[in-house]
Amino acid sequence: MKIATAFLASIISVALPAAAAMAADAPPQWAYPANNPNYKPPVDDGRPVRVPDSTAGYTWSQLRDRFIAPIWHPGDHRPLPDIVASGRNPDVFACGYCHRADGPGGPENSDLAGLPKSYIIQQMADYKRGARGTAVSGRTPPTLMIALSKPISDPEVEAAATYFSALQPRKRIKVVESDTAPKAYVAGLLWAAAEGGEREPLGQRILEVPDDLIRFESRDPRSTFTAYVPVGSLAKGEALVTKGVGKTLACAPCHGPDLKGLGPLPRIAGRSPSYMFRQLYDFRHGARTGEWSPLMAQVVSNLEQEDMLAIVAYLASLDP
Ligand code: HEC
Ligand code: HEC
Repeated sequence: MKIATAFLASIISVALPAAAAMAADAPPQWAYPANNPNYKPPVDDGRPVRVPDSTAGYTWSQLRDRFIAPIWHPGDHRPLPDIVASGRNPDVFACGYCHRADGPGGPENSDLAGLPKSYIIQQMADYKRGARGTAVSGRTPPTLMIALSKPISDPEVEAAATYFSALQPRKRIKVVESDTAPKAYVAGLLWAAAEGGEREPLGQRILEVPDDLIRFESRDPRSTFTAYVPVGSLAKGEALVTKGVGKTLACAPCHGPDLKGLGPLPRIAGRSPSYMFRQLYDFRHGARTGEWSPLMAQVVSNLEQEDMLAIVAYLASLDP
């Protein structure tokens, strides 16, 4: 990790000098939906589920097996290494089960496609030693992610990081500025639009929903999403991201001129706004304290939730 360390040392000097006191604002529900135990997922009737443009078929039981990464579109990616395809029984679940076969994940986890290999390895190490947590404990997705980081071996991390870092990210989120949004409910782990097309005021939140819930439930990596964001947030986010406007640092010096990553640092363009908001909030509230996190702690130290919301809305609207 020599190159990465040298690179980070070279950018530390541009970080803000003083970090403000830890913020006391509560985590917003739109970004941290509580698990909904009343959600009734589709029932296994023994017949294979199908998704568009695929000849594959899986039953709902197979699609909920944590040791299976469904391969709906084999032409979209190289063959999966074992750890991504099937994990290792009993306690390392298949990476592709949650992050999908070619890495896009969903609003409830993280898009891994094309993240730098050294970044992925560093994050796994941070989870393993307890340095990367989450501001709202007890939610299922991060709990499982953190748990599987403990027993995983270095060669398994290496294989997964090699695979995910070589993938090409795809645009899958449409961002819509609007005063209203579909009425929504938590479908298990993420927000989904209620049937019937009813709308309600959006207010100061982002609503990120799958365009087709069943396709999403089927873990089809080609699933797409719409994110409703408050009117004006794209322009506000752009100003913060590109200029900092006295509240933060411009992101490009560290995350790359196109925000698609630089050296060991991750892409922040075109990713789930729900996930990205949780990360900014987690840095701000000391829940993410990995080896490289101090650089971000300073970036977020003066940001209010509204600023973070605008930033992630703008970032999600960019091509990945
Ligand atoms: C049970 C679902 C699940 C499985 C299985 C899973 N992950 Fe995750 N992963 C998550 C969630 C949820 C997050 C986001 C957690 C957070 O907010 O820190 C995440 C985040 C990550 C991140 C951080 C990404 C970033 O942008 O910083 C990496 C790297 C990662 N996972 C790698 C893996 C690898 C490698 C495997 C397989 C060994 C794996 N994951 C299996 C759910 C899962
Ligand atoms: C001084 C360098 C620096 C600047 C400037 C910077 N970042 Fe970062 N960023 C980092 C580092 C380093 C990490 C990885 C932190 C870690 O490993 O915990 C990171 C990680 C992130 C992550 C988490 C990504 C993931 O995959 O989980 C987000 C989100 C993020 N930065 C957003 C921003 C935004 C938005 C800006 C501009 C407003 C910004 N960063 C400016 C250095 C920087």
